[in-house]
Amino acid sequence: MQATNNPAASSSTEAVNFPIRPLKILIVAAEVVPFARVGHVAEVVGSLPLALKEAGLDVRVAVPRYGQIDPLKSDLKPLANLQALPIPMDTQREKVQISEGLIGNDVPVYFIHNDKYFSREGIYGYPDDAERFILFCRAVLEMLPILGWQPDLIHCHEWHTAIIPNWLKTIYAEQPFYRNIASVYTIHNLAYQGIFGYRVLEIAGIGEYEFSYPEQSDSNRMVSLMSLGIRSADVISTVSPTYAREILTPSLGEHMEGLLNSRSERLFGILNGINTNIFNPATDRYLAANFEADTLDKRRENKLNLQHEAHLPQNPDVPLIGMISRLANQKGFDLLAQIIEPLMQLELQFVLMGTGDPFYHELFRQIAQRYPHKASFYLTFNNPMAQKIYGGSDLFLMPSRFEPCGLGQMIAMRYGSIPIVRETGGLADTVKNVDPRHDVGNGFTFDEYSAMPFYAAIIRALETYKYPQIWRNLMRRDMQADYSWHASATQYIALYRHAQQFHLQP
Ligand code: GLC
Repeated sequence: MQATNNPAASSSTEAVNFPIRPLKILIVAAEVVPFARVGHVAEVVGSLPLALKEAGLDVRVAVPRYGQIDPLKSDLKPLANLQALPIPMDTQREKVQISEGLIGNDVPVYFIHNDKYFSREGIYGYPDDAERFILFCRAVLEMLPILGWQPDLIHCHEWHTAIIPNWLKTIYAEQPFYRNIASVYTIHNLAYQGIFGYRVLEIAGIGEYEFSYPEQSDSNRMVSLMSLGIRSADVISTVSPTYAREILTPSLGEHMEGLLNSRSERLFGILNGINTNIFNPATDRYLAANFEADTLDKRRENKLNLQHEAHLPQNPDVPLIGMISRLANQKGFDLLAQIIEPLMQLELQFVLMGTGDPFYHELFRQIAQRYPHKASFYLTFNNPMAQKIYGGSDLFLMPSRFEPCGLGQMIAMRYGSIPIVRETGGLADTVKNVDPRHDVGNGFTFDEYSAMPFYAAIIRALETYKYPQIWRNLMRRDMQADYSWHASATQYIALYRHAQQFHLQP
């Protein structure tokens, strides 16, 4: 890890100093694979605990039970003494029910449910989201003494759970059960902060505490729930070392750079891994043909299959560019829109999958109509087809304006599709520019966020693609790299120890 701060390096003495009993970690989040998924956060929350468990930790997870999670299908067991737990909310109490399920074979997951707030199909996007997640988080803390399980540390993800570190320092600070619980708050994307009116503080029972931030004027009196986590957690982390540095600057700090700079000695960047059992070209059941780095010839069948499914001419030689992304400016679609016409004049094929901004839906619909032999767009998210794109494309685009970590580039590399990325956040940490003269690098990168450098990176990739031996070496190198959670889990464990030390400081 090339970090701003490196927890693994700075706590190296602790590596020899094993604790007597395993660390007890509770991971709290709004989404987790395989139960509820909106984006990549769910992949992270679903696979980090498996790696921590493998490392010997006592790790458990808590998430809301949304209407879409069927207790029977998901094999959830109601916890007998947690079927009507009264949770303080504003001036009243809301009853919640808690059941238990599993991730993998042995990671317990606590599902928090309340009919009024969680019997809905969707996960986010309701006008009362603040109340919903405040209730969820409070229930998580309230259930612990009844479970009789006292974690050493609570690891919170995203704004939905950011209030927990704050409560541990405010309303729960003096209660013996909670006093020794340290906290880590992980930012997956600073652009989504959970900004609500000041009233949320009353609902959360912390109305009497004054939270004033240099970034907020008194007149608009808004609260960013994320800022409560950043302000109160013993340690703050984000999902790549480069993003950890970028969010300290006004250009990517989303008005939080002042607060983040004031706590920068507690801010760390740890790259996500990917679940290499799920994302495995040797076993992926959605692929037409399974393959590995030493059976690359079989990959050709996937390309032909992808071309067939995407209604493009079946030609194993034409370079095929894939892209799977939310259709939003953050992901670089404003750049792509500027170069899509000139791209369509080149000898290539392009398959895009994703949903988002209606403006881009319309743009790509028109492009597909005008260039039916070159472009194919799936304006929806479809898992089997996504895997076919990873396994059948030659190149994979991620020209993001910013990218906290990005998992797509790692999945693409594992499947032998070479990424073309902008040098930002986790993309900069995982993709290094190819230098064909020295046979080094694993993808094609550009720095300045503008259309010309992006276009130039694509041209460099297409030129390199003309040399089959160089290209095969590149594919092999990318497929054989380690994207597993192993290294990241080791860094998280060091981070947890660090947080415990910070917790002891006044
Ligand atoms: C967010 C970020 C993305 C990251 C993911 C998982 O979706 O935008 O870059 O990979 O979280 O941490």
